[in-house]
Amino acid sequence: CVHRTFLIKKAEIVQIVGIHFHKIEQKGIFAPLMENPIQLYDLEFDLFISENRIKEKVREMADAINAAMGMDELHIVSALTGSFIFTADLVRELKMPCHIHFVKVSSYHGSTQSSGQILADSPLKADLHGKRVLIIEDIVDTGLTANYLLHKIKESGASDIRIATLLFKPEAYKEKATIDFIGFSIPNAFVVGYGLDYREIGRNLRAIYKLKKQEKSMLNVVLFGPPGAGKGTQAVKVAEAFQLVHLSTGDVFRYNIKNGTELGELAKTYIDAGKLVPDEVTVNMLKGEMEKNKDANGFIFDGFPRTIPQAEALDALLNDYHAKINGIVSLEVNEEELIARLKNRALTSGRTDDADENIIRNRIQVYKNETFPLKEYYEERGIVEVINGIGTIEHIFSDICAAISKLK
Ligand code: AP5
Ligand code: MG
Repeated sequence: CVHRTFLIKKAEIVQIVGIHFHKIEQKGIFAPLMENPIQLYDLEFDLFISENRIKEKVREMADAINAAMGMDELHIVSALTGSFIFTADLVRELKMPCHIHFVKVSSYHGSTQSSGQILADSPLKADLHGKRVLIIEDIVDTGLTANYLLHKIKESGASDIRIATLLFKPEAYKEKATIDFIGFSIPNAFVVGYGLDYREIGRNLRAIYKLKKQEKSMLNVVLFGPPGAGKGTQAVKVAEAFQLVHLSTGDVFRYNIKNGTELGELAKTYIDAGKLVPDEVTVNMLKGEMEKNKDANGFIFDGFPRTIPQAEALDALLNDYHAKINGIVSLEVNEEELIARLKNRALTSGRTDDADENIIRNRIQVYKNETFPLKEYYEERGIVEVINGIGTIEHIFSDICAAISKLK
């Protein structure tokens, strides 16, 4: 009755539903439910099958059932709760005399996944011996419910049993029984509306809606600290532990230098002097590296960002992934220790910027002047975790893991 008010002229409606029309029109009771996308608790759904398409399909299915089953009495067995609307619409298009039975059987437990178990809260009581039966389902997913009913009705000695479902998920179907009348074959996605629910709401939606693809939430962490603080050492371990992609701008520059690329030649002049490579070059390179890892769970940034413009560029890049920097892990190590570590590493690393103590000191100075102010930039967001970078590698790693685990 409520539904029809939108299709019939106002004068007629007042006669049919009287005062209810005004209530509906003024309060817009159904307005929120007509929106697209719609929100049901924590989930968002997109319009999938419109009300009109459902109506056409119900009539089409009824024509097929009328033609196939003839005019003899038919016993409808409808599986509650989901199929109540489809059953009501379908049976009104059927021409043979119908007995209607409802059973409360379900294989869903208010989540978006099939539970794999049957709950028969209100089992079938009718005597169907020798009768012609049509099982009506709103949706056949794994097929557990339909096949359970088929089995039960067969046991009761029915002479002819058919199954009709508005929605059918061929990819999810695990049973062997033939589904005789299918409305729409749909992908294996979670749908609501027209009787189907999410955690018991959404059944009264007139159309069918499909769960919106969830944005994957990324975890993005910056390992921050002066040259020799242990960023690279720890980033490798963090990447493995949290399944993140490790992006070290220093490593990418060195790779380019080794391979004699144009970028490598440009970067070498800055790196050998212990200076920063210009922001534009660095940001473009990082963007390229991120694009190579579009499906990453997240990134552990090592040696990037090093300036405020780089931090701003990183925010913009992550915005394209609908993501953000979740946290900055700042490794604190005193200057003498840094110099000692890098001089020691120079013995084996082959890194030109480690070879001369003056260059090492210059790198530390550049860090103080250009990179350290970034800490404040991120502190304003309350996402900096300070870690003592002196101690064993394992001990520091466990402190870092504890800090990252706290991030949202
Ligand atoms: P980059 O490669 O990033 O070098 P860095 O920042 O100078 O840092 P390091 O790699 O030397 O040290 P780290 O903190 O990774 O420590 P590690 O784990 O290796 O950058 C190089 C250059 O590239 C820059 O100078 C710049 O020119 C350019 N560049 C890079 N990114 C840029 C950007 N965003 N913008 C502009 N220019 C950029 O450890 C150091 C040593 O200590 C190792 O030998 C290690 O074994 C040892 N160690 C680690 N942990 C411990 C511990 N707990 N105890 C004792 N020893 C330890
Ligand atoms: Mg490093």
